Amino acid sequence: MNYSEALEKLQSFGQQHLLHYWESLSESEQQQLLKQIVALDIPTFNLQKNLLKQQLKPLKNIKPIQDTVSEGTTDDYELGLQILADARVGCILIAGGQGTRLNLKGPKGLVEITPIRKKTLFQLFAEKVVAASKRAKAHLPLAIMTSPLNHEETVDFFKKNKNFGLLDEQLDFFTQEMLPFVSKEGNLFLESPSKIAQGPDGNGMSLRYFVNHKIWEKWKRKGVDYCTYILVDNPLADPFDPVLIGNHHRSQTDVTVKCIERIKADEKVGLIVKQDDKVIVVEYTEMPEAEKSAVDKKGKLLHRCANMSNFCLSMDFVWEAAKIPLPLHCNLKAAKNIDKEEKEENKAWKFETFIFDILPYAMHVRALLVKREMAFAPLKNASGDDSFESVQKALQHQAIAQFEKITGTTISGDHFFELGQEFYYPTPELKQKWKGKSLPASDYVEG
Ligand code: UD1
Repeated sequence: MNYSEALEKLQSFGQQHLLHYWESLSESEQQQLLKQIVALDIPTFNLQKNLLKQQLKPLKNIKPIQDTVSEGTTDDYELGLQILADARVGCILIAGGQGTRLNLKGPKGLVEITPIRKKTLFQLFAEKVVAASKRAKAHLPLAIMTSPLNHEETVDFFKKNKNFGLLDEQLDFFTQEMLPFVSKEGNLFLESPSKIAQGPDGNGMSLRYFVNHKIWEKWKRKGVDYCTYILVDNPLADPFDPVLIGNHHRSQTDVTVKCIERIKADEKVGLIVKQDDKVIVVEYTEMPEAEKSAVDKKGKLLHRCANMSNFCLSMDFVWEAAKIPLPLHCNLKAAKNIDKEEKEENKAWKFETFIFDILPYAMHVRALLVKREMAFAPLKNASGDDSFESVQKALQHQAIAQFEKITGTTISGDHFFELGQEFYYPTPELKQKWKGKSLPASDYVEG
């Protein structure tokens, strides 16, 4: 594409202002800008504009999901262990977001999260996979979704650290795509003279990108029948939870949603509800306040289950889900705009797809309700709720509970410590070794 072709394309949908700084650009910057203009998809832009014109559709026929919720059993656990030992499960780790609320520049996975060793989220998850693989006596596969903004840094980080013990063949990366921001006036805009403002396109298309990158085929060849789906910003997320996997297998469903009890009406979590007899998730940004705070006769929140975007999916459904045309959602977010003054609070429309929009297409979605303190401590904000501080507390709480469970002892006092991940995926040998033992004085305890 050359300048006049670019101008013609932009004029066709009224966005020629994107060439405003053309004359001042170096040759390589001009090439960069042209590349972005080539990639602009006019039908998508029209979809974005139409979405802005629409009012949020009122939600109809929303009901609680009580009859589709179950809690895990020891049978689920044993069955899950067997399925893992047969190497029939892989894990998709979603790590493409920007961490805007944390004021981060690099990948969110690089946040040092553990209290003593200061392991990053990426290291933590890689070590969980190593430990789960050791217990299963199989190299369980992990696929990480990055975005164009953090892909290189993520891959380099794993390379530099020898994948934290994962084999190369066990680990795959795939990248999501970007979508342009739209200004409040309804136009595309530049964040710098040669760069059109855009952001990652949400986690909804992750399964499509996973399939397009041929990882689905690779896993299927290895005999993988199920995959789990976790978000990088929840350090309590378990890539290979036997209870979830066993429960999913037993229910013979397409998707099992691992969820937790909601604790307050205004928590920023998606709500799991039923609509026309289908289990769906409605994001907190789109749920009417009345539904969020609705209570039952006992005064408990009527919609009791919160989404963590933590699923177990059957691989055959993943193949189908990759083809689903997902709706766009939009939200006003901070965005850099070259033509607006720095000091002015600059917000623009960001567009995303959401992973849970695949649920209405699945057969018999089930919800598995688990204990919040062992499953959910998201890192979202720089301070307050869901911040570094609250996550550290949750990790400490989990370590105490896990150590007590394995050893059968009780920890007293406020000793601050961290457990190696092998404690969370205990082998019979580890259980035997630690039975009845009290907590060592060191602050990092290896299995
Ligand atoms: C998400 C869930 C919400 C849930 C909450 C729990 C979705 C759509 N929403 O909301 O229902 O209750 O987590 O903590 O899943 N990400 C990408 N690429 C993107 C955007 C996000 O990889 O383009 C990743 C982020 O790195 C993060 C995760 O997806 O790990 C969630 O993204 P975020 O935008 O923080 O979602 P929440 O609004 O917190």
